[in-house]
Amino acid sequence: MAELTVDIAGIRLQNPFILASGIWGETGATLARALRAGAGAVVTKSIGLEPRAGYPNPTIVEVPCGFVNAMGLPNPGIEAYKEELEEALKPGKPVVGSIFGANASEFTSLARKMESFGVHALELNLSCPHAKGYGAQLGQDPDITKKITASVKAAVRIPVVVKLTPNVSSIATIGKAAESGGADAIAAINTLKGMTIDLELGRPVLSHGTGGYSGPGIKPVGVACVYDLFEAVKIPIIGMGGISTGEDAAEYLLAGATALQVGSVVYKKRDRTFTHLSRELSHFLSSHHYKSARALTGKAHGRS
Ligand code: DHB
Repeated sequence: MAELTVDIAGIRLQNPFILASGIWGETGATLARALRAGAGAVVTKSIGLEPRAGYPNPTIVEVPCGFVNAMGLPNPGIEAYKEELEEALKPGKPVVGSIFGANASEFTSLARKMESFGVHALELNLSCPHAKGYGAQLGQDPDITKKITASVKAAVRIPVVVKLTPNVSSIATIGKAAESGGADAIAAINTLKGMTIDLELGRPVLSHGTGGYSGPGIKPVGVACVYDLFEAVKIPIIGMGGISTGEDAAEYLLAGATALQVGSVVYKKRDRTFTHLSRELSHFLSSHHYKSARALTGKAHGRS
């Protein structure tokens, strides 16, 4: 059997498959369920300082090859999230706390709180494609990316992952900014900005209008971003965007990812997601004479 264990930013994962933020992440019980169903780690829903209701429905729509969603960062606020984390931490596997703020000082106080609640790492959401004043509106600017990363890094001891948006002209520039701010790893990619219009109503389907496109349709974009980042930075990359099979996972590893996140596929495969992906990746590795998932990272770059 090929070895699926990977190490990322000093954290050991039993397999490279991590539940992405926003998928089953609003409650500790569903995060624990993903871990018990075989996830290598989980990322929480992005949490802010205050409770937020999010946008009115409809907030998600299925489209060919994926989904477009705009939830509007609904979350209970950092104080109330403590008890969800107690539940999520029960299986004893890595839990990554995702946070969003409007500036470095908000990110830093959220980071301190999350760390005190016992998460193993932080993921900075600098990439939500549709929330005014948050996410990609900060993460499209390299200076702001560096400043927020450095400020969080100075405040916590746990590893800090920066999640990037593909909605930029050069993701490598933003990746380098995160690295120079001290990021321990990069996660790429968040969703692509998208919209779908109801032909009968003549209006956008989602209440917010635009949303984020995810699912198999975005896989080539994600793979290209990971490939470019691998050329640009030395820190490890967590690849994501449209992974739904073990072969998709292998493609991201070859492009340069060390670990992987999955989201949209969970809506289809539910609790079977992680065991199926691990089995399929393991089969790919053995049939292509690779000893481990680790051995695949960056191989598409043709270095020895
Ligand atoms: C939401 C969407 C995102 O892509 C993200 O990174 C964070 C939040 C949302 O709609 O809630």
